[in-house]
Amino acid sequence: MHPTCPLIGILLLSLSLRGYANAAAVHTPDGAIRKLHELTLSARVRAPRTIAQWGAWASFQRHRLSIKYGSKDRLMKRGSGMNLLTNQNADSSYFGSLVVGTPPVSYNVILDTGSSDFWLATTEALNHVDGNDPDDRFLPGYNPEASSSYVPLNRKFSITYGSGGAAGVLGKEIVQMAGFTVQDQVMAVVSNMTEDMLSVPVSGLLGLGFPSIATSREIPFWLNVAAQPGVLDDAIMAFHLTRYLNDFDARNAEPGGSFIFGGVNSSLFSGEIDFQDIPGGRVGYWIQTLTSIFCQGTPLQLPLVPQYAAIDTGTTLVGGPPTIIQQLYQSIPGSERGIGDYDGYYTYPCATTVSISLTFGNSSISWPISPDDFKLAQLSSDTCLGAFFEFPTTNPNGPSWIIGDTFLKNVYSVFRAAPKPAVGFAQLSDLAKDMNGRGGALPTPTYMDNGATVTAQDGLARPTSGGSPLYAQLLTLFSALISAIWLAAS
Ligand SMILES: *[C@@H]1O[C@H](CO)[C@@H](O)[C@H](O)[C@H]1NC(C)=O
Ligand SMILES: *[C@@H]1O[C@H](CO)[C@@H](O)[C@H](O)[C@H]1NC(C)=O
Ligand SMILES: *[C@@H]1O[C@H](CO)[C@@H](O)[C@H](O)[C@H]1NC(C)=O
Repeated sequence: MHPTCPLIGILLLSLSLRGYANAAAVHTPDGAIRKLHELTLSARVRAPRTIAQWGAWASFQRHRLSIKYGSKDRLMKRGSGMNLLTNQNADSSYFGSLVVGTPPVSYNVILDTGSSDFWLATTEALNHVDGNDPDDRFLPGYNPEASSSYVPLNRKFSITYGSGGAAGVLGKEIVQMAGFTVQDQVMAVVSNMTEDMLSVPVSGLLGLGFPSIATSREIPFWLNVAAQPGVLDDAIMAFHLTRYLNDFDARNAEPGGSFIFGGVNSSLFSGEIDFQDIPGGRVGYWIQTLTSIFCQGTPLQLPLVPQYAAIDTGTTLVGGPPTIIQQLYQSIPGSERGIGDYDGYYTYPCATTVSISLTFGNSSISWPISPDDFKLAQLSSDTCLGAFFEFPTTNPNGPSWIIGDTFLKNVYSVFRAAPKPAVGFAQLSDLAKDMNGRGGALPTPTYMDNGATVTAQDGLARPTSGGSPLYAQLLTLFSALISAIWLAAS
């Protein structure tokens, strides 16, 4: 519990300047990884009532018509689906939405490549979320009794975070997202969580990692979709995340970019996607080996032991081993290690433009991080807070680096399960970059009294069969993963 206190202090101090206060929930599933989900403590700016995730209402209507009139095949084999994201509190977190239960209800969830459980909080648990005024409630809680498709599993669920936790029970539900459906997805119904776990209007978290790190030891939604024969074009997920950190007029919810499942969106990146395999035996988090770090043009001296890094959309910042973080700030003249609440963080002169770039695996590409992303907050006229912090790992088998949104906003990021689990990065297209700080309409809601469903890209259907090469590759991956779970559980 203790290590999170300083982080909460920092973010309160730094980000409350913007009219809201943030706290960092440091997440430690199985003690493996500390996670910075920065969450609003007090949403003083009232969340607009229209916040939600799904693509255009028009597209929704069209899709519903195709359900009604289209052929079964077309629906089963849509190939890929897209989910528009919301950027919450100036890049603190990015959420999408999904639909659960019968009748179907839509929920906003953090999309998190750094964990593998899916949970939704009950209305009761959400009543304690700051900013969720019960008289003007926006957040829908999940109520298993209101869903005829909920099947209890009579197993408890509990995930531990550095600053608290979320607990409840496991059950099975119908879950739909980005146009895909899993009929019997295991999910946790969270009835008890610490108050800073979520912020309005988010009701839960969807883990997009591999099953070996799932606290529930169940198959995550995305892999259940991938296991359906002929449904996905490719076992791929990709993110484009927008930047509002440098925009002082940012609202607490802004267009966040997009998540695509089953393919990539070639209008959002340019050039090739540079894929690097997850190092052997490390499939769990989306791990990459961090092979070089340049700061102000100088390469840091990395130890000979491999620097394993979790590529984590659900973490706001970048955390690394204390000795290397110290070295990094040594190459920024005038930087100072924080004390007290700032323990583990560093300040630097705001006039300094900090350029950092990272290389992963065997790639020849060094991916730059914008100085705007490195500048986490301005504490005074000349003191700025850096977005890289010391992350002292306690688990020798866990990653020593957490590469969060500070980095991911700078690339198109691709998470590929087959043929071999890999992470890829590509340069953002001008179209994608132009979405930074642009404002505009938030993803439109699909809260419907009845018949809520999800949008998907039409016209991407590609007839495939259960015997497709993709399916065969996934079966191999699946059996490997399931034996990993079995080993871990025994
Ligand atoms: C909820 O969590 C708190 C803090 O972890 C714990 O003290 C309490 O017993 C929990 N309540 C239930 C109903 O599980
Ligand atoms: C790709 O991204 C563009 C820009 O956001 C969007 O208009 C388009 O619908 C997306 N296409 C797919 C297939 O998701
Ligand atoms: C990098 O190359 C070495 C030697 O070819 C290989 O063993 C290793 O798996 C590669 N690493 C990645 C991440 O692709």
